[in-house]
Amino acid sequence: MKLVRQSLASSVRAALMIIVTVPMTCMAAASASLSTKVHPASWPAPHWPFAKSDALEQRVQRLLSQMTVEEKVGQIIQADIASVTPDDVRQYHLGSILAGGDSKPGGGRLASPAQWLALADAYYHASMDMPKGSVAIPVLFGIDAVHGDNDVTGATIFPHNVALGAMRDPALVQQITAATAEEVRATGITWAFAPTIAVPRDRRWGRSYEGYSENPQLVAQYATAAVEGLQGRVGTSQFLDASHVIATAKHFLGDGGTTNGKDEGNTEVSETELRDVDGAGYPPAIAAGVQTMMASYSSWNGVKMHGNKALLTDVLKDRMGFGGFVVGDWNAQGQVPGCSNEDCPIVINAGIDMLMAPDSWRGLYTHTLAEVKSGVIPMARLDDAVTRILRVKLRLGLFEMGAPSTQPLSGKFDLIGSSAHRALARQAVRESLVLLKNQDHLLPLNPRQRVLVVGDGADNIPKQCGGWTLNWQGTGTTNADFPHGESIWNGIREQVTAAGGTAALSADGTFKQKPDVAIVVFGENPYAEYHGDLPNLAYKPNDDSDLQLVRHLRAQGVPVVAVFLSGRPLWVNREINASSAFVAAWLPGSEGGGVADVLLRTRDDKIAHDFHGKLAYSWPRTATQTSRNIGSNNRPLFAYGYGLTYEDNGNVSPLSEDSGLSR
Ligand code: BGC
Ligand code: BGC
Repeated sequence: MKLVRQSLASSVRAALMIIVTVPMTCMAAASASLSTKVHPASWPAPHWPFAKSDALEQRVQRLLSQMTVEEKVGQIIQADIASVTPDDVRQYHLGSILAGGDSKPGGGRLASPAQWLALADAYYHASMDMPKGSVAIPVLFGIDAVHGDNDVTGATIFPHNVALGAMRDPALVQQITAATAEEVRATGITWAFAPTIAVPRDRRWGRSYEGYSENPQLVAQYATAAVEGLQGRVGTSQFLDASHVIATAKHFLGDGGTTNGKDEGNTEVSETELRDVDGAGYPPAIAAGVQTMMASYSSWNGVKMHGNKALLTDVLKDRMGFGGFVVGDWNAQGQVPGCSNEDCPIVINAGIDMLMAPDSWRGLYTHTLAEVKSGVIPMARLDDAVTRILRVKLRLGLFEMGAPSTQPLSGKFDLIGSSAHRALARQAVRESLVLLKNQDHLLPLNPRQRVLVVGDGADNIPKQCGGWTLNWQGTGTTNADFPHGESIWNGIREQVTAAGGTAALSADGTFKQKPDVAIVVFGENPYAEYHGDLPNLAYKPNDDSDLQLVRHLRAQGVPVVAVFLSGRPLWVNREINASSAFVAAWLPGSEGGGVADVLLRTRDDKIAHDFHGKLAYSWPRTATQTSRNIGSNNRPLFAYGYGLTYEDNGNVSPLSEDSGLSR
């Protein structure tokens, strides 16, 4: 095993370098020696920005003293709207509900903002409608608003985090998450399961696009911005006011570091690396007052995070001073050895305060209640979990708010997909595009020409948006499901025709009149979570139709601008060679017009918007360079930070077309 060491400034880089240079065959041996012992005193101790409030503590204690053990157990369980009725919430005193990616009010494929608001009201009223003698505690409703309020029809769909990383613009991230919070509040919901502050290091991971960057420092910087946008800044009157929501830093800890990029897999790294790389975003999120954390499905050196008391309790709560509550992930308790979805005292004892038990809540309630009564779960632990949840509900003002529909932004449906929010999203698209190649300065294009727009991504808003859009996988939808959205084609058409050029759409690349230039939009189809895991980074290994499309146009003498839609860098050397210019557009979301803003000159031949994006993930040289991260000695094709502007010489010499996969 050859470990190449360089003198790199930070220990983080050194850690990264080691992990990327250890050959695969040594991984098992390496992990065998990796310890699961934790040294809390060696972890950062950020400042939890809430002074102890006697008034708040007294209210919590009063509530707690009035609650029966049944009510306490109900408070720590979260059920999914597809599997729980308002009446169940009342009867079992459930503390929280969520809408999973495929769960909609009314059980349909899509739901309008008004349906969401009515649903929020129904659950709220049930939670408050308690018989005399029972304590009424308002239910907390959570949703995956991970790139805008993405489950709601008509919402602004912002670019996924992989794109936001390329912007290098924390101020815009804060504005985006603040806009997201407003759209969520318009539907009466007060809790977003965002931001994901994973540090994805192996691009085969299907959730790479949910992470901002492979660079822990950038993730740390963005964590502050994203949390402050969603919740408002602690100490200001905006904090958790009627325009903001509770945020969730996820997934604690090591979700982005799993071996081979396997979703929900095993992160085999030292404690130092876990802390400095995977953990980099947590201290800033805590200092920004994040109210909840979601535990990771993954394991650290073989131990499931949901059962890891040392990390959840000794490190996160005791050492790092996190004073919010920890929510489990979707039935993740069932993955802990010795547990099932319906029965898992281990995770509660380890420090999970609320269990996400979408369809398993009823059995979990029964077992947990019995385990508290028998002492398997100490009453003090249950009280601590309930106390943490109540503190968060009180900080949010949930008790005083009244019904969701009575709150200031509720029902203001013109906020959902508003022109102001879409303008932010479009700005984010412009800032996140990364120019990888610009042979002979083909770009920016003169709009007064004949422009052919080609490829299955050209007029395809679902493909622009990726997973976690209108449903979990982001599939099965059409442009018509995005009432405010604009496809990349439509954005180009608008600006070309306005300038006096002609634009034509041709999914398959055929044309009657020879175009002056073709823009070919292609890339990954939507996926979420483990559905997106890959064996290597080859782009569509058994289907080179996009490559043929580009080559066919070039063979006819048409210059080609490739616009590549993807949740991660992939091996596309052949496509880069075949194209005259190549743009990494990530998953830009509903505002496809942002692409035209950058590719085209104005009608009077000016550059309106230059390229701004810089890679937040290294781009692979071969399909097997799956985890080439900053600090790696093994050269990626385009390093972290790469990204051309119009001024630059954008010529790229022919790249090797050997994918590196053994045939
Ligand atoms: C994901 C979480 C998400 C939750 C609720 C899980 O499968 O890992 O990120 O918040 O589902 O949809
Ligand atoms: C839900 C998602 C969840 C996933 C977990 C899906 O059915 O809609 O929200 O993250 O299951 O496996």
